[in-house]
Amino acid sequence: MRDLSAAIRTIPDFPAPGIQFRDITTLLLDGAAFGACIEQLAAVVGEDFNLVAGIEARGFVFAAALAHSLGKGVLLLRKRNKLPGATLGVNYALEYGQDRIEMHADAVAPGTRVLLVDDLIATGGTAKAGAALIRQAGGVVVRAAFVIDLPDLGGADALRADGVEVVALVA
Ligand code: PRP
Ligand code: ADE
Repeated sequence: MRDLSAAIRTIPDFPAPGIQFRDITTLLLDGAAFGACIEQLAAVVGEDFNLVAGIEARGFVFAAALAHSLGKGVLLLRKRNKLPGATLGVNYALEYGQDRIEMHADAVAPGTRVLLVDDLIATGGTAKAGAALIRQAGGVVVRAAFVIDLPDLGGADALRADGVEVVALVA
């Protein structure tokens, strides 16, 4: 199995001093690496869900490609004030700031089974907010999948403590 870490670039001190930024744009530029990444995600996420939820912005790229490869629909979890319809929202803190994600209030029927996808989990603030949002809308978060886990920041463990199964390709 291809090691994807070689396709991910690290940029120190972005967007703030002390942050080692794991940059997936280099992986996306490499068609073979991106294809392998989607294949590896498809192999570990299962099929017991109806929708793949992606978190804006980087999460959209992986969620859409994965959903297409599995024949599933895509649920967009967007940053504040981007969605045109009535929304539900959750505020959260991340490794380098604060934000809010929103989804259309009518996007999931009660009991809809959802896979949550993002490029990376660090503190877990974003993913926990995403899971809370889907649950608030009546959906069931079946599991969460990431290309990159930064285990030192504890996000995956925090998400598991929230009752969400977590899979990741690279630590
Ligand atoms: C990044 C990344 C995750 C989040 C992880 O997104 O894509 O969504 O941070 O951090 P956390 O686990 O500490 O919450 P960012 O908010 O930088 O947005 P972007 O995808 O628009 O670049
Ligand atoms: N999101 C939160 N922390 C990050 C990091 N270290 N690299 C890239 N994206 C991030």
